[in-house]
Amino acid sequence: MHDGSDASDDATVRARPPLNPCCNPRRVARTPMDAAMRADWLIEPPRKKETAMDAIQLLKKDHSTVRGLLDELVATTPRGLKKRTDLISRIARELKAHTTIEEEIFYPAFKAAGEKGNDSRMFFEAKEEHRAAGDLVLPDVLSTDPGSEKFSGRAKVLKEMIEHHAKEEETDMFPRAKQLLSKEELLALGDQMAVRKEQLLAANGRTP
Ligand SMILES: [Fe+2]
Ligand SMILES: [Fe+2]
Repeated sequence: MHDGSDASDDATVRARPPLNPCCNPRRVARTPMDAAMRADWLIEPPRKKETAMDAIQLLKKDHSTVRGLLDELVATTPRGLKKRTDLISRIARELKAHTTIEEEIFYPAFKAAGEKGNDSRMFFEAKEEHRAAGDLVLPDVLSTDPGSEKFSGRAKVLKEMIEHHAKEEETDMFPRAKQLLSKEELLALGDQMAVRKEQLLAANGRTP
């Protein structure tokens, strides 16, 4: 709602120096103008990132989510058509988001910080495992009749591939990333990946 102040008032308000730390930001507004001015120039202190995860925490949390979904999937039978269909589409969405944030953000940072030789090998091996699971096995499962035993077999192969890959990341790549990247860098990567993951999940239809 307009507060009745004109443009020159606004300019004056915006020119006001930043909030002095000695002032109490929770002070009570005594008049409507006081309240309007506070709303315009009060700078909120930065929010604490108590819930922010660093890159490794975020990726491990994703692994745990996907492991749980794969466990549920292989426990289903051909009679559980709806459950199978729901689970495999959720797994596909989660895997796509996870492998994309790794390939767009985490892996390049790991490679840039790493050395030739073992670090570089880990980078290329991880990308190949994504390709094998995401481009070959997952599309096979998605195109297989969930009411068939063939689906059961393919789902099991997908689970084994993902578990192998996640375990390698957790035992080799992530500990190495902690040596190569600072805590601040890992936190910044975690922030970037969280934002990107939200975009990807939203674009692919989030599961409630
Ligand atoms: Fe990965
Ligand atoms: Fe991963």
